[in-house]
Amino acid sequence: MSFKSIFISIFIGTALILAALIINSRRPAVETSQPTAEFIRATGKCAECHRRETAAVVVEFERSRHAATGVNCLDCHTPQAGQQEMEHRGFVIAKEITAKNCNQCHTTEYQQFLRSRHAAPAYAAVYGDEPFTAEQVEFAEQFHKGAVKRPANALALLEGEIATVKGCVSCHAVGKPNADGSIGNCTQCHSRHLASVELARNPQTCGQCHMGPDHSQIEIYYESKHGVLYDIQKKYMNLRARSKDLTVHDMPVPTCATCHMSGLEGLKVTHDVTERLSYWLFDPISEKRPTYAQGQAQMKEVCLKCHTTNNINKFFLEAEEVLKATNSRVAEGQEIINELRREGLLTPQPFDEPIEFLAFDFWHYYGRTAKHGAFMGGADFVQWHGNYELLAKLVEIKAMAEELRSAHDRNKK
Ligand code: HEC
Ligand code: HEC
Ligand code: HEC
Ligand code: HEC
Ligand code: HEC
Ligand code: HEC
Ligand code: HEC
Ligand code: HEC
Repeated sequence: MSFKSIFISIFIGTALILAALIINSRRPAVETSQPTAEFIRATGKCAECHRRETAAVVVEFERSRHAATGVNCLDCHTPQAGQQEMEHRGFVIAKEITAKNCNQCHTTEYQQFLRSRHAAPAYAAVYGDEPFTAEQVEFAEQFHKGAVKRPANALALLEGEIATVKGCVSCHAVGKPNADGSIGNCTQCHSRHLASVELARNPQTCGQCHMGPDHSQIEIYYESKHGVLYDIQKKYMNLRARSKDLTVHDMPVPTCATCHMSGLEGLKVTHDVTERLSYWLFDPISEKRPTYAQGQAQMKEVCLKCHTTNNINKFFLEAEEVLKATNSRVAEGQEIINELRREGLLTPQPFDEPIEFLAFDFWHYYGRTAKHGAFMGGADFVQWHGNYELLAKLVEIKAMAEELRSAHDRNKK
């Protein structure tokens, strides 16, 4: 080989390397300096250091199905389009992780979740449609008319921002719109690093939010035969069974997830918790949902994996009777309030007169509780926390209305 040809090949080689360097320097930092997910898998870089810094995170992660199937730290922590980035120990990670990161691998679950009331309607229940884009509002309105296109909640406005953020939002952020354009996060039911179905099937996980006098689902569940049986038998259950393989041998007793989400014995598993419902129980007067027939049929299909048709039909008929009776009692209470407004005895503002609080508790606590109790097997909630209170509070509302009228008459004289 001549000196000339060696010189030319060195020259071309150097030019190529330079060109590559120049092109590379124009690529975003994530692409050039980010060690790959394979690198993390091979070296365990994040885990190595975080085992010292935040050991709980690593321990939880190592117990997860993710760790077992080779999903690693960077698979979730890599910034997705629209997410704020952050330099971190030679890596670039997302400043915040949302449903969008999970959606990379779990699109089906995300799409089902988006259709449910856990998505946009949950956040709009507090802040109205203001935080959402026009497309997000339009999408949700197809499935839940009026649930997103509404004003901010009056009570939230009155209680103030910090009470709203640390109270309402802690539960309703399950459907919060994120800066990256996605909605919600998946960790409310799965946690961040354990990411498990076992956790999501545990009633207490739902009970983080579904509790208290206005939606006493967890209390009702613990009173029901199902809750009592679950408590004693959970140690024999296989709560880690894969979703598509779940049978009554794994879980002979239902939890919240079984009735509202799971694919028991080959049923379709769903992240749309709205799918199996037939009424809007949370409303003051509960009407049938547009999807009444299919919702109730789907819920009954779940019951029928463990029960017989006659028993289940009877159960639903009786629950519907409780619902009708509750509707008419609540209507009676509301009519008294409406009449006071027509007579000009109440201001148009909400929550500035004692009787308005009483009237709110009337349906929001006792009316709801009676209905929820009837549909989920909580006798004490139908009765003492429900119907008894409805009876007592109606008497109070009537007495207060009379008091307002006579005070008004006295003032006129
Ligand atoms: C050499 C040690 C080290 C390495 C490697 C490392 N971290 Fe960290 N990381 C830390 C320390 C220290 C903190 C801060 C802890 C604190 O604030 O108490 C932290 C914080 C974090 C936070 C919280 C950041 C915030 O500001 O909210 C995340 C998320 C995180 N690390 C993820 C990762 C991921 C993912 C990797 C691998 C790609 C990684 N870390 C690699 C040491 C490390
Ligand atoms: C299944 C997805 C997923 C995987 C895998 C994952 N993380 Fe996370 N991690 C999250 C989410 C979600 C958060 C919460 C971030 C937020 O709120 O913005 C988080 C938060 C953190 C935090 C902050 C914790 C705190 O409480 O302050 C650290 C540190 C962290 N991750 C480290 C790691 C390390 C190290 C690994 C691998 C051993 C890992 N993560 C794997 C999803 C994941
Ligand atoms: C890189 C892809 C990837 C990402 C990102 C990811 N997962 Fe997973 N996830 C998987 C794989 C793979 C499995 C195991 C599936 C299997 O075993 O068939 C899994 C399983 C699961 C399971 C079932 C666990 C069990 O106990 O059976 C849950 C729950 C889950 N992921 C939630 C999440 C959540 C929440 C996020 C976001 C915070 C997330 N995943 C992010 C790939 C991913
Ligand atoms: C982080 C809080 C939170 C957790 C955890 C949670 N939910 Fe919810 N859930 C809500 C909120 C808020 C709503 C009300 C949304 C609305 O109607 O505005 C709701 C509504 C519902 C509804 C009614 C949907 C409709 O169409 O009316 C069902 C059913 C439901 N959740 C079931 C569950 C189950 C089952 C679990 C556990 C696997 C669970 N939830 C866990 C906050 C939560
Ligand atoms: C402990 C968690 C939690 C807190 C705190 C909470 N909620 Fe809720 N909220 C729920 C759950 C769960 C439901 C669903 C009840 C049902 O469907 O039976 C719900 C239902 C609602 C509904 C009826 C559903 C709808 O879409 O119209 C409204 C409105 C609402 N909440 C607003 C608020 C406001 C405003 C606050 C604060 C002043 C608040 N919530 C505080 C958990 C909570
Ligand atoms: C309301 C609580 C709740 C929320 C929110 C939630 N999940 Fe789940 N998820 C569950 C339950 C319950 C199961 C198990 C159903 C069953 O019994 O098989 C599950 C199962 C899963 C599985 C396992 C599915 C399989 O076929 O093995 C994945 C993956 C998953 N969820 C991902 C997500 C993602 C991604 C999000 C966010 C978009 C999300 N989940 C939000 C409750 C929830
Ligand atoms: C045995 C099955 C079963 C179990 C277990 C169960 N539910 Fe339900 N749930 C129902 C039925 C049936 C309804 C009424 C459905 C309808 O609208 O027809 C209902 C209604 C609801 C609603 C009311 C939605 C609305 O319209 O306001 C919520 C929220 C809810 N359940 C959450 C839960 C939670 C949380 C748990 C666990 C603590 C739970 N459920 C346990 C069967 C069950
Ligand atoms: C995974 C199985 C399973 C599912 C699903 C299920 N149940 Fe049950 N349920 C049980 C078991 C087990 C018992 C206790 C029965 C016994 O002692 O033989 C029970 C008991 C009951 C009881 C109390 C009977 C008594 O002792 O007075 C009622 C009512 C009931 N279930 C209604 C329902 C309804 C309604 C649904 C659907 C919305 C449903 N169940 C879904 C397993 C299930």
